[in-house]
Amino acid sequence: MTAFKQRVFSGVQPSGNLTLGNYLGAIRNWVSLQDSHETIFCVVDLHAITTWQEPDTLRDATREVAAGMIASGIDPKKSIIFNQSQVSAHAELAWIFNCVARMGWLNRMTQFKEKAGKHKERASVGLYVYPDLMAADILAYQATHVPVGADQKQHLELTRDIAQKFNSDYGVDFFPEVEPLIFGEATRVMSLRDGTAKMSKSDPSENSRINLTDDRDLIAKKIRKARTDSEPLPASLDDLEDRAEAKNLINIFAALSDQKADKVCAEYEGKGFADFKRDLAELSVEVLGPITEEMSRLMSEKTYLDGILREGAENADKLASPILKQVHDIVGFLRP
Ligand code: TRP
Repeated sequence: MTAFKQRVFSGVQPSGNLTLGNYLGAIRNWVSLQDSHETIFCVVDLHAITTWQEPDTLRDATREVAAGMIASGIDPKKSIIFNQSQVSAHAELAWIFNCVARMGWLNRMTQFKEKAGKHKERASVGLYVYPDLMAADILAYQATHVPVGADQKQHLELTRDIAQKFNSDYGVDFFPEVEPLIFGEATRVMSLRDGTAKMSKSDPSENSRINLTDDRDLIAKKIRKARTDSEPLPASLDDLEDRAEAKNLINIFAALSDQKADKVCAEYEGKGFADFKRDLAELSVEVLGPITEEMSRLMSEKTYLDGILREGAENADKLASPILKQVHDIVGFLRP
């Protein structure tokens, strides 16, 4: 195997608000990678339009995700930050991968089945080949490491299958074997109204989530309103198996304070939720307040943000273009 430089790539869709779930489950973990790896973070607007987006809303959401990343500590001096549509290599390589991936592979993708629901014939073709574009995102940079949540593991396996089939179809050793980066206790943040559902930007209830655009008062209010039960808190997380809402709040507390969930339980053992929620509200405001404030500030500086994305796109293009040229040669596209 050729030695590939350790390069990290990850993406976030600009559809709806960034939530506490995006922060604790993903972006927060990326910040620490910036010092040890070459890092590329992408706002995946091409992926977003696999379901229809209102154009002005899409533009705003793209800036919002970029602002959220920067406010959370992604440093444009250390990482490349850009939006996908500005670098044409993504779409071009995705086409080639459409010809490498097999229908049978895509038919197995659970995210497509979930998103398309009962009316598969009415889903966009883009939604179906979404994973090929994701593979192109990663492999256009010959990235080797991809931090993702558990729900994206199947897509990463497909990326590996595509890379391997491309290499063997053309008898080359060109695309690396991509490794998922799964973070220790990657926090799966659940809805504040229903502890069995993932915190989601598409949930109709605003009180189900904390948005990275919420101000301090709203964050505190949503925590105070979070659903709980009437039992006191137990000594360890194992005793919360059947208490999804309580477990979620403990996990959020643990993630925000960088502690083990069991330690948080032990601290509040025997206490009711009034005390716990008061402390959690305070902690949430302390950790998230500065991020949400910085994010609002950045959102009011659109020219600055757009400049970062433009510069990021130029740098991304410098990495991807020569790789795409080599792909053209491998595949047999004439470049006189
Ligand atoms: N599919 C990912 C998600 O929904 C977003 C994404 C697009 C991505 N391209 C990527 C993540 C490349 C990692 C690498 O979360």
